[in-house]
Amino acid sequence: MNKKLIGPFSQLLPMVDLPLKGPIKDSQLKVQHAAGIVVEAEKILAVGDYHELQQQYQGEVEQVDIGLNSVCLPGYVDCHTHIAFAGSRAHDFALRNSGASYLEIAASAGGIWSTVQDTRNCDFMNLIAQISTRARQLVMQGVTTIEVKSGYGLEIEQELKILRAIQQANQELPIALVATCLAAHMKPRDYNGSASAYLQYIEEYLYPILIREGLSNRIDAFVEQSAFSVDEIRPYLQSAKDMGFDITVHADQFTSGGAKLACELGAISADHLEATSQKDIDLLGASETVAVALPGASLGLGMNFTPCRKLLDAGAALAIATDWNPGSAPMGQLMAQAAILASAQKLSNAELFAGITFRAAKALNLTDRGSLAPGNRADFIIYQTDSYQNIPYHQGTILPQLVWANGQLVYQTK
Ligand code: NIG
Ligand code: FE
Repeated sequence: MNKKLIGPFSQLLPMVDLPLKGPIKDSQLKVQHAAGIVVEAEKILAVGDYHELQQQYQGEVEQVDIGLNSVCLPGYVDCHTHIAFAGSRAHDFALRNSGASYLEIAASAGGIWSTVQDTRNCDFMNLIAQISTRARQLVMQGVTTIEVKSGYGLEIEQELKILRAIQQANQELPIALVATCLAAHMKPRDYNGSASAYLQYIEEYLYPILIREGLSNRIDAFVEQSAFSVDEIRPYLQSAKDMGFDITVHADQFTSGGAKLACELGAISADHLEATSQKDIDLLGASETVAVALPGASLGLGMNFTPCRKLLDAGAALAIATDWNPGSAPMGQLMAQAAILASAQKLSNAELFAGITFRAAKALNLTDRGSLAPGNRADFIIYQTDSYQNIPYHQGTILPQLVWANGQLVYQTK
C-alpha cells in the first residue's frame, strides 16, 4: 500500500505554529499524545490522534505499529557542516591545548591549509566514502538533512571534485545533503595574486559551472583575519546574490564585521557569531538572516559560546549546527552539542528543538521540512522514551530507535 499509518506515539512534537524568530516557551510546543502520522509516498499526509486516523484511513493504509513509550519528532537538520574532507587535525588540537591559538596555527600554514593538502590528495571515490560515513553517523543521531560545504579544494577543479562528491553521495544516501560552495574559505597559499583576484577567479570560472551542473545554489565565505576582509568579500557575495545564489557567511567567529555584512546583503544565515557585539546582535534580531550557533567549534577550540540567549531575546531566529570539520569541530554530535549549549545559554527545550528543526531548515531556505505538517517531506524520528524532555536531558546519549526519511525507514537500532 502506498499509504502508511505510523504510531501510536506517547508524544509527538509537530513543531508547527511556532515563531520563526525570537524566544519560544516550552508551553508553546503543543505536544500531542497517542498520536500518529500518515505517510503517502515521500510526504506526510496527516498528523493527529492515532485512533481517529485509524478510523479515517481504515482499509487504505498499512499500519506500522510503534507501541507507546515513544516520542516522535521531525528529523533533525544539521545546517552547517564541513564533512567533505580528508585527513585529521589532531595535531592542531594538541598545539592549541599547549597554548597556540587557532589564528596562529592558521598563520603558520597549519589549520585549514593542511586539510586542503589532504583533501586535494584524496581521490573522488574515497572522498565520497568519507562523506557517506560521516553522514551515516549523523543519520544515526536522527539527522535527515545535512548541509555540506566544499572549501578544502580552493581551486576550480578541486572545488568541483568536492562538490561532485557531495552530489554523488547525496544520490547514494537515503537522506538529503545540501551542498554549499565555500571556495572562499581562505586565500590558497599557492595562489599568486591578491585575495580579490582569487575571489574574482572563483566567481568567473566556478559560479557558472555550479549553475550548469546543478552542484550548489549556495555561496559561503569565511570573513576573518585568516581569511577574507569585509571589503574583499562584499563584491564576491553581491555577485553571487545577483546570479541567484543564496548566500551565507562564516561571521564574527574571532573578530566582528561578518554579521553586519550578512545583514546588509540579506544573507540567508550568519554562522558562528561567538564575537558578535550587542549592536550586531540587534541587527540580526531585526533581520531575516538566521543566526547559526556552532557549539562544536566552541567546544573544540575551548572558546566562549555564541550569545544565543541575547540573540533570541533580540528577536533573532536561532539555529544550532555541528560545524563538523577536522579543525575546530571534529565531534559531530548534534544533540550533545545543542544540549550543552542550552545549559550554558539557558535555552528552553522548545528553542533547542526549533534550532535543529524548522529554524535550521530556514537557514537552508527550505520550508518543506523541520516540522510535521501535511505536505512536508516525511522526515521523522522516533525515540523509545516517554517524554521529549528526556532527550536533551541526556545530552545526546540517548539516540533515536527509528529514523524515517523521505517516507522510508532508513535507520533502525538493532
Ligand atoms: O566553521 N571557520 C572556518 N571554518 C571552519 C573551520 C574549518 C577548519 O578549521 O578546517 C569552521 O569552524
Ligand atoms: Fe564552519
